[in-house]
Amino acid sequence: MIEPCTFIIFGATGNLARNKLLPALYHLEEAEKLGEGMTIVGMGRKEYTRESWQQHVRDLLESRVRGKLDEEVFGRLCGRLYYESGNLHEKSTYEKINTLLMDKDKFSPNVIFYLSIPPSEYAQTGRLLAEEGLNNEDRGWRRLIIEKPFGYDGESAKILDKGLHRDFQESQIFRIDHYLGKSMVQNVLVFRFANLMLEPLWNRNYIDHIQITHSECQGIAGRAGYYDSSGALRDMLQSHLLQMLTLVAMEPPPALDSESLRDEKVKVLKSIRPIPKNAVHAHAFRAQYASGNIDGEAVNGYLDEEGIRPQSTTETFASMKLYIDNWRWRNVPFYLRTGKRLKKNSSLISIRFKHPPQQLFRQSQIEQLKPNWIVLGIQPNECLRIEMQTKQTGLEMRTQTTQLDAGYCTVSDMQIDAYEGLLLDVMEHDHSLFLRYDEIKWAWKVVDPILKVWSTEREYIHTYPAGTWGPWEANRIFDREDQFWRNSLAEDDTH
Ligand code: BG6
Repeated sequence: MIEPCTFIIFGATGNLARNKLLPALYHLEEAEKLGEGMTIVGMGRKEYTRESWQQHVRDLLESRVRGKLDEEVFGRLCGRLYYESGNLHEKSTYEKINTLLMDKDKFSPNVIFYLSIPPSEYAQTGRLLAEEGLNNEDRGWRRLIIEKPFGYDGESAKILDKGLHRDFQESQIFRIDHYLGKSMVQNVLVFRFANLMLEPLWNRNYIDHIQITHSECQGIAGRAGYYDSSGALRDMLQSHLLQMLTLVAMEPPPALDSESLRDEKVKVLKSIRPIPKNAVHAHAFRAQYASGNIDGEAVNGYLDEEGIRPQSTTETFASMKLYIDNWRWRNVPFYLRTGKRLKKNSSLISIRFKHPPQQLFRQSQIEQLKPNWIVLGIQPNECLRIEMQTKQTGLEMRTQTTQLDAGYCTVSDMQIDAYEGLLLDVMEHDHSLFLRYDEIKWAWKVVDPILKVWSTEREYIHTYPAGTWGPWEANRIFDREDQFWRNSLAEDDTH
């Protein structure tokens, strides 16, 4: 049973709250998961009365919930919604929270603080909460949810973590990476560790390489301030994509408890071969979108987006090649790629197998038999596909690719958003799908050398027209000419 709590969202009028948190809370309400006595307090700089906030939330939910907004469900959610205006930097904002919590009949002393604010504000906000005693668990529990990116690089992440630990216990801190809440990402573990037939194949002897791609059609969606100082490497690769890599590459944990799981993920990150400064260009590539067309509509280039510095060389596309120096993966390249304003919305993990040792079935000397692939579609289609070669019907011995799909390769209306499960986990005090600081530390160690080199190259960046798959130069990180990016579930969607 979930205990009553007061869920306080700092940055309640921002992008994340609007698009993810409030819709997730609505869906949890719909699923009757929000316990009695739970209240949701939005905090932001804008002024709202309780009524105008409730109306605002209703308006934004209308276009963001699955299916039609249910009046009865919204009515229940509405009864939980409160709003307090306040500036993050001012003591009075935190005093207001204490005053609120004095109303014990309405607000539970168990409090979750969700920091949906610029990453540069995490440390100070944690401090100010503590100065008002809001970290103190004498009367009820206090939990802090921190969004990514955690720090700006390894050094700043260390300082941030140290600062937070001055005021909060590790058990109070939830470092969120919402990719770990996606059901297909969790399915990677089930697929690997509940199916024994895969285990003998899952290593350097059979796998040629592994690709992890996240592509988006959208641009920076009004987040210029954050994005221009962050870039694709920090925004997606250091967190979400490296997390997916750990799940694909890790050893089976002794148990599924949070520490065992995270211990194994850390081992993978620790085993990633460091990229020396002089090899950064062979291992990583960056680019920025120029104007182009998305679904037939002309869109601006990055430099023309509102709020972007003229001549900014922040990357909106980043790819990198990594090797994991352990027994299982030695010399198998892992290619990671992400970009904004690309041709399709798609997140995929694609595993390419080696060719059979003898090419018995090719039709000509130069033709090669197509290799097997396992493709895990994370979104928009949740999918598990295995590509095999079979004989074409007819008299000749010709091969064709046949796809074995798990039954649910569709976009389902019933898909649960990652934030729904993760918010419940915080309420239930389950850290399994949240990051431990050492995961973050090792993930920064992987990307820090790339960031350092890129930060000194501020004169030039490759560009790509919006609506394409990025510049062809991105292919230069491949080890061999027969390796290429796989763009979607379709077998021939490659370049
Ligand atoms: C966020 C990034 O963490 O993830 C965004 O900051 C990105 O830039 C988003 O668009 C992608 O998440 P999802 O769940 O839409 O794939």
